[in-house]
Amino acid sequence: MELMLDTANLKEIERGIALYPISGVTTNPSIIKEEKAEDFFGHMRSIRALIGHGRSLHVQVVADTSESIIAEAEKILSVLGEETFIKIPVTEDGLKAIRILSERGVSVTATAVYTTIQGILAMLSGARYIAAYYNRMLNIDIDAPKVIKELSSLLWSNSGCCQVLAASFKNVTEITTAYANGASCCTVSPSLLSTGLHMPSIAKAVDDFHASWKQVYGDMTILDL
Ligand code: E4P
Repeated sequence: MELMLDTANLKEIERGIALYPISGVTTNPSIIKEEKAEDFFGHMRSIRALIGHGRSLHVQVVADTSESIIAEAEKILSVLGEETFIKIPVTEDGLKAIRILSERGVSVTATAVYTTIQGILAMLSGARYIAAYYNRMLNIDIDAPKVIKELSSLLWSNSGCCQVLAASFKNVTEITTAYANGASCCTVSPSLLSTGLHMPSIAKAVDDFHASWKQVYGDMTILDL
């Protein structure tokens, strides 16, 4: 299983990789817009510097014809390095670009996936990750857990190197349901991860343990014993 950060905010990434078991960072044009990063490649380089080379960086193209998608992918790879994952929306032109780039050995993350058929076609075209848009599916009455489950079982039995990267989460239950339905990877905003750890009952449990300790050992800590 993997967990990625769905943000381009440098402070959030620095904090997130210090706290959580993060294997990569996913971005898209809307996420980058939030950072008002005028120097796009400079900002992407800053993310790479923070996450190092042991984690994956996923950068999305904006072109919409297969030729221009491939040209943008080549530019991204030349500036940010061959290890960069190229995010390509699963349209007809996107699929063609996914296949051509994958055949050249480029790591592709197929994105904007709302349906099982999109995921199957991207998998067959050579994508390494299938970014399935969980909350956006629910918004248009698509059964997101079913799509994640179908794709996960198909990838498990048909492909050794393609994973479901569940994305577009708006609450913690969506994340846990995606994992429970077989997603091997989820990409999540740092604020949503934080929400999962800031329930009052967690803080109360910790406070209760502190109080119990204090009743027996006063202000001493384990290090004082
Ligand atoms: C990640 O790969 C996706 O681009 C992202 O999770 C989409 O999130 P959104 O639905 O909140 O835009």
